[in-house]
Amino acid sequence: MKNSVLFVCLGNICRSPAAEGILKELAKQKNIELRVESCGLGDWHEGQLPDSRMCLAASDRGMTLTSRARQFTPALLEEFDLILAMDKNVLNELYKFATNTSQKAKLHLATSFSTAYKDQDVPDPYYGGRSDFDLVLDILEDVCEELLSKKLPF
Ligand code: 4NP
Repeated sequence: MKNSVLFVCLGNICRSPAAEGILKELAKQKNIELRVESCGLGDWHEGQLPDSRMCLAASDRGMTLTSRARQFTPALLEEFDLILAMDKNVLNELYKFATNTSQKAKLHLATSFSTAYKDQDVPDPYYGGRSDFDLVLDILEDVCEELLSKKLPF
């Protein structure tokens, strides 16, 4: 069985593509087979590469972000084992799409897997500056490290 993780934010150009890149990189380093993707609640940036500011912050940590933005669809609630929302607003929106207890059980706040940032929102950096993008990466590195320390399947 291949475990799968879907990260969800608003635009799918800042937070969730960064989470996707970090988790893929860590899984590769640890030889863990994992399907990792991301999407956004909105369709404003459909098809675009991640925000250039996020790409730069990630590149400064040795990572290249290559995903293309796409919008969340309810079918993804069946496709993935674990669906991680970047903040509580996104999580609440996802709950509205879940039609059964199995789908609801897959939904979590990303930081529920973190100790240092436990149950905090991953703050939207879109209208922020470099330090906001760095904070997102700090939080998501912690989330992904702790996630991969859990026993699979999730
Ligand atoms: P993200 O950031 O949800 O982390 O990708 C945002 C990107 C774009 C917008 C909002 C948040 N937007 O309104 O276009």
